[in-house]
Amino acid sequence: MNTQNSLKALRRLATTSVRVPRSTLNTQPGLRGFSTTPVGSLRFTSLQHDKSDPYHKSSTDATGTSAGPHEGSASRTDREIIVEYPDDEKVFDQHERPLRGFGGVQNARTLPTFSLEGRTAVVTGGARGLGLVMGQALVNSGSDLAIVDLNKEEGEKQAAEIVRLFKKDFPDEKPPKVTAHYSDVSDPDSVTDCINEVISKHGKIDHLVTSAGFTENFSAETYPYDRIKKLWGVNVDGTYLFATAVARHLMERGNITHGSIVMIGSMSGAVVNVPQPQAPYNAAKAAVRHLAASLAVEWAHAHIRVNCISPGYMLTALTRKILNDNPELNKTWTSLIPVGKMGSPEDLQGAVVYLLSDASRYVTGADLRVDGG
Ligand SMILES: NC(=O)c1ccc[n+]([C@@H]2O[C@H](COP(=O)([O-])OP(=O)(O)OC[C@H]3O[C@@H](n4cnc5c(N)ncnc54)[C@H](O)[C@@H]3O)[C@@H](O)[C@H]2O)c1
Repeated sequence: MNTQNSLKALRRLATTSVRVPRSTLNTQPGLRGFSTTPVGSLRFTSLQHDKSDPYHKSSTDATGTSAGPHEGSASRTDREIIVEYPDDEKVFDQHERPLRGFGGVQNARTLPTFSLEGRTAVVTGGARGLGLVMGQALVNSGSDLAIVDLNKEEGEKQAAEIVRLFKKDFPDEKPPKVTAHYSDVSDPDSVTDCINEVISKHGKIDHLVTSAGFTENFSAETYPYDRIKKLWGVNVDGTYLFATAVARHLMERGNITHGSIVMIGSMSGAVVNVPQPQAPYNAAKAAVRHLAASLAVEWAHAHIRVNCISPGYMLTALTRKILNDNPELNKTWTSLIPVGKMGSPEDLQGAVVYLLSDASRYVTGADLRVDGG
């Protein structure tokens, strides 16, 4: 790869976790950020076990200077690059069949406190990406699920898919209740309406995962202010609004000692990613992390636990597409990850079940980094 191509690749690196809802695009002519266009479904198979998967075979070899041809040059991005959300694929393609015990006998021994049997969980941003994979984990652990998303149509499709799969795995059992609901998490009225709708369908809420969020890359000195407000509105306000609404509901129910909330932050809330410029996103994720710690203290009296999961670079359909287009980038990314590979969305499943379930009943206010080191 020549220098020009390398530079281009590094600039494209800045698009790794870019998520711009379609509605926020083109609001400022001439100031286009990186964006994704949600057009397809995600596939999240257990790729970490697939030896032929090129993204999990890479080494941690250094890739030369990460600063580009001169110091600081890599922290500038090309505003013209737009990454389409990939138009694929089959969902829950090769999922791992969950274990099930009958009459006290289980196929494998596990701690019962990890079970979410009889619980109802809400996952915001649950129609796609990490939220969808975490939602599947909650259902496989016994919970009913309410998928909340801007994209209700996709949420409905995935809800039906989760139930279809459950029936396939357990044809003789009562299927879980999995519903889809519209909400713009940054809008207080929309959040209230959504919570009411979920309670009317499920009767109660026990757990919340706030995965609705996005990032975009602008250098700070040119970042359009209305977009910063939108970014903070979804990532921070949206997390706050949903958490407080669910906490109010749990407090009103009274005598509930198992209520718990997991907020999805990011490693970007604790470290500064390079080379992509994303100061407002980093600040938003730091806010999410400390919001979890603060609310954990504030709501301890009500037995509501609040924790944060901070993922590193996760290999979603979008990042996979970027890497397919730019094979050199895989080396660049993995050179900065101690375990030498990006995470799979499935790597969050155990973490979210642990933090929501009674297995973590003495854990609150924690930040669990799932970032390969
Ligand atoms: N993918 C990664 O590598 C990564 C790494 C660290 C943290 N994160 C965080 O994880 C979360 C999920 O990321 P992802 O990669 O799954 O993103 P994604 O774009 O694949 O999914 C996000 C979902 O949130 C929904 N959403 C966006 N704005 C919304 C709003 N205002 N109201 C309701 N729903 C909304 C989208 O429609 C989408 O379904 C985000 O908070 C992100 O910042 C992701």
